[in-house]
Amino acid sequence: MAVSENGASKLQMAQHGSIDDGARDIDAVGRNRLALSQIGIAWTESAALRTVVELDVPRILAKHAAPPDHAMSAQQLLQCMPRASNPNAGALQHLMQLLACKGLFTEHLEYHNSSGVAGDHLGGSVVRTYALNSISRQLVGDNPSDSMANFALQMTMGPHVAATLQHLGEAILTSADPFQLAHGVNYFEFLAKHPEYLNVFQNAMAERSQAETGPLLLTRYKGFNSVKGLMDVGGGTGAILAQIVRHYPHITHAVNFDLPEVVALSPAHPGVEHVGGDMFESIPVGCDAIFMKKLLHDWDDEACIKILKKCYEALPESGGKVILVEGVLSPKETPGNTNAKSNTMEDEFVLRSSVIMFVHCVGGKERSEHDFHRLVTAAGFRNFQLLCKLDVSYVMEAYK
Ligand SMILES: C[S@@+](CC[C@H](N)C(=O)[O-])C[C@H]1O[C@@H](n2cnc3c(N)ncnc32)[C@H](O)[C@@H]1O
Repeated sequence: MAVSENGASKLQMAQHGSIDDGARDIDAVGRNRLALSQIGIAWTESAALRTVVELDVPRILAKHAAPPDHAMSAQQLLQCMPRASNPNAGALQHLMQLLACKGLFTEHLEYHNSSGVAGDHLGGSVVRTYALNSISRQLVGDNPSDSMANFALQMTMGPHVAATLQHLGEAILTSADPFQLAHGVNYFEFLAKHPEYLNVFQNAMAERSQAETGPLLLTRYKGFNSVKGLMDVGGGTGAILAQIVRHYPHITHAVNFDLPEVVALSPAHPGVEHVGGDMFESIPVGCDAIFMKKLLHDWDDEACIKILKKCYEALPESGGKVILVEGVLSPKETPGNTNAKSNTMEDEFVLRSSVIMFVHCVGGKERSEHDFHRLVTAAGFRNFQLLCKLDVSYVMEAYK
């Protein structure tokens, strides 16, 4: 044991609160190393989430967990999985334990004695069971469109994303599209060739619209009151447009415009016409307002200006507006602020989203209010306003 000049050991000093600088340094280094490791292994919670959604754990809990605590052990969960031919309950439990630690499930501990009887038997075995809580209940719905299960799959790392991550450094050094480097085509071309990924992507977008953004948009934003004809450019399956026309029946002309392969798989919605096309070629005329949600963040500035110019051309000569719903980098995250540090969950989400856009899309990124103003001005719009905040996104309007 190391002993100091006055004869006291480091352990004694630590115990009496007079630890010396050397020992404090070791603690600080240890803490820094742990902080570094935590960032490095953040993928484990994402992988655990993806796996339990793939294995349908939330739905099994919703269907089979019994009162009083509505909880199941890993072993019981596996008994509800017909494909489990030689299950590893220990591994599933570790995933559930991590997710419970991150707040996704509630964990119950029960002590059992050697005969398997429950009670406070120290020295016996511990049985861990898991129940849905208010967060994991988002992964279950009365019908598939109420749940965020596809969104969880879309946000976590599918094999196409894992392959793309190998090219991020090269993409940074060469300004290439990392997705294209990995797959030979850009993200939307890839989706067109892989219906299984396209389905998850479009369902994920619809789930987010239905569960999160839609309700807030309808209560907080009043700009649809004056609109007669509304087009959603890049509207996916038309989920949000369907909500808007249900809420504002005075909108008599509603067009959901997206790529042909997307509108082909979109369900019919009363009052909504699906039109397939390419927004870089032309956007149909006939609406006095164009809505674009989470669309510009997929593209670089040059492409955004091209899209906005096509919107400008499609709006009536007499005027009209573009309604944008996008994440907005908070002022403290914008260039020039040397104190940039994310404080809120929303700020952190938008920063993470910017990385996701870089991974998926050529030049895609999140932007500041100032960036959006610059883009719409470059496309010819005469005025711009940021109007209200939704979940992690804001509503902005640009006027022709
Ligand atoms: C990030 S998603 C947003 C979907 C929807 N607005 C939402 O928020 O849920 C971008 C959408 O743009 C569509 N898109 C991509 N390229 C397009 C193009 N060239 N013309 C029309 N739509 C396009 C995609 O198919 C996709 O539905």
